[in-house]
Amino acid sequence: MLINIRREEPKDYRIVEEVAREAFWNLYFPGAHEHYVVHKMREHADFIKDLAFVIEVDGKIEGAIFYTHSKIVSKDNEEYETISFGPVFISPEHHRKGLGRELITYSIKAAKEMGYRAILTLGYPYHYEPYGFLGGKRYNISMPDGKFYKGLLVLPLYEGALDYTSGHVVFSDALEVSEDAVEEFDKSFPPKEKKYQESQDEYEATISLLDE
Ligand SMILES: CC(C)(COP(=O)(O)OP(=O)(O)OC[C@H]1O[C@@H](n2cnc3c(N)ncnc32)[C@H](O)[C@@H]1OP(=O)(O)O)[C@@H](O)C(=O)NCCC(=O)NCCS
Repeated sequence: MLINIRREEPKDYRIVEEVAREAFWNLYFPGAHEHYVVHKMREHADFIKDLAFVIEVDGKIEGAIFYTHSKIVSKDNEEYETISFGPVFISPEHHRKGLGRELITYSIKAAKEMGYRAILTLGYPYHYEPYGFLGGKRYNISMPDGKFYKGLLVLPLYEGALDYTSGHVVFSDALEVSEDAVEEFDKSFPPKEKKYQESQDEYEATISLLDE
């Protein structure tokens, strides 16, 4: 297995969106919207082009990771620039072979070299704890509703990066898409059945878990 990680280029866009659609389909809810999120976010002001990477296995794209600008807003309305990744995905047939680890580790290193303060992301703790992410509570960083959730994961990128920083996270609206637009975009792909699968229950049960 020859693995290569490189910056995403325009010629990759469609195949990347196809891989995203496969990776997320029916995973968190019936259907998926991540392929459209990726499609739209590339044009957004918060999109970080230098941190958009694809991973190739024997020359074929099997995953990608994308970052956008985010921020921490303190009680006094002080703002601290951060970055956030997502979507990140690997083709289902290649899960648990270490590709996600390669890709995430590579992008974290690149983000560090670019001087960013911290990465904040949403997801399952078991996906991101291996890279040093901890729940936001550890850093006094909440979601916009003021609550600490287990799914808000934070990684400072240098010593002391978050020592005097607390507040709530604000993610980019590049990640927000309308259901109608997703529906329309999805028609340009081969039909795929939207249905229930067990992973949706895990997701539902996890997103509201508070860090107490
Ligand atoms: C999340 C995802 C990118 C991980 O990619 P991957 O190539 O399967 O992950 P790796 O094989 O590199 O795993 C790295 C480590 O992450 C953790 N991990 C990854 N998937 C896990 C799972 N399903 N359950 C538990 N731990 C997991 C483990 O610690 C793993 O190390 P190990 O295999 O030595 O135990 C991939 O599963 C995926 O595309 N999922 C669908 C899309 C998604 O949910 N993306 C994340 C939300 S944006």
